[in-house]
Formats: sequence, C-alpha cells, structure tokens
Amino acid sequence: MRAGITSLVLVAVIQIAPATAHAVDFLTPDQAIVNSGRVQFEKNCARCHGADATGGTADTKVETVKAPDLTGLAKKSGGTLPLWEVYEVVSGSKVLAEHRTRAMPIWSEELAKARGINKENKEAIVRGRILAILAYLSTIQEK
Ligand code: HEC
Repeated sequence: MRAGITSLVLVAVIQIAPATAHAVDFLTPDQAIVNSGRVQFEKNCARCHGADATGGTADTKVETVKAPDLTGLAKKSGGTLPLWEVYEVVSGSKVLAEHRTRAMPIWSEELAKARGINKENKEAIVRGRILAILAYLSTIQEK
C-alpha cells in the first residue's frame, strides 16, 4: 500500500513538473554548443547587432535601420527566450512586423552559402548553426 501511495505521488509530481519547468531547457546548454554559437554570432550577426548583441549601429552599406538589442529577448517575453519564434525570425520563415521592412538577411539562405556544405546535409547544418547561435544568445539574456 505504501508503495502504491509513493508511486501515486510520483505520478502526480511528474505530471505537475512540466507546467512549472521551462518548456525548453536552454538554461544550461552544452558549453561546446554555446562556443560554436558565439563564433557563428561573431561571424554573421555582430556587425549589425554589436559584438555584445546589445544592438548596433546600422551597417550603412547594407541598410539604415539600427539592429535591435538581442539580450532583451527573454525579458520581453516574460523571462524565457521564445526559442522557436526567434528561430523563425533568424531563419527567415517568419516575416517581422508588417510596418518594418526586412532589413535582416534570411539566414537560412546565408548560412547555407558556406563552402563545403553538400546539398543533402545543408538543411541539417544550417539548422544546427542557427540553434547554436540561439544557445549562445540564451546565455547572454538580461535577467
Ligand atoms: C545586415 C544587418 C543584420 C545582420 C547581419 C543581422 N541582423 Fe538581425 N536584425 C537586423 C535588423 C535591422 C533587425 C530589425 C528588424 C528588421 O528591420 O528586419 C533585426 C532583427 C533581428 C531579430 C528580431 C529582434 C526582435 O526584437 O524581435 C533577431 C532575433 C535577430 N535580428 C537575430 C539575428 C541573428 C541571430 C543574426 C546572425 C545570424 C542577425 N540577426 C544578423 C539586422 C541584421
């Protein structure tokens, strides 16, 4: 009987836990992934969003819109980085607010231009790169 109650309690805890935990645990991403994301960020994003991602001056050769601060994305969303929303913005599958023109490159295309990517693996590699960048961004969000 005691074992029965214990397992009932366990089942209850397991069912309650997902509601209180973060939907995606990007709080403690693997350091190697974060490091590769930082490298990708420095190569592809820093020139517009700033080396520390706090927003940049416009790359006037490309456009005149000032790139936004990317360290406040979690704060803007109630404390959790909205991973898949941001993913879609970066990959280009989500068009940004209507009143804005798309000044930002479509990264699913840009990151696929790298040399040495064979066609079959292209999508997987690009997804991995974007996710690594997001893992890095998740570590530099303001509280
Ligand atoms: C050529 C400049 C430029 C580069 C390079 C660039 N961005 Fe942007 N980004 C912008 C601008 C400008 C905006 C504001 C929206 C717009 O006008 O398109 C933006 C918006 C965003 C947003 C939405 C922010 C919000 O507040 O909702 C995210 C996320 C983002 N960029 C991530 C990235 C990442 C990650 C990279 C690198 C892979 C990158 N950007 C590279 C210019 C750039």
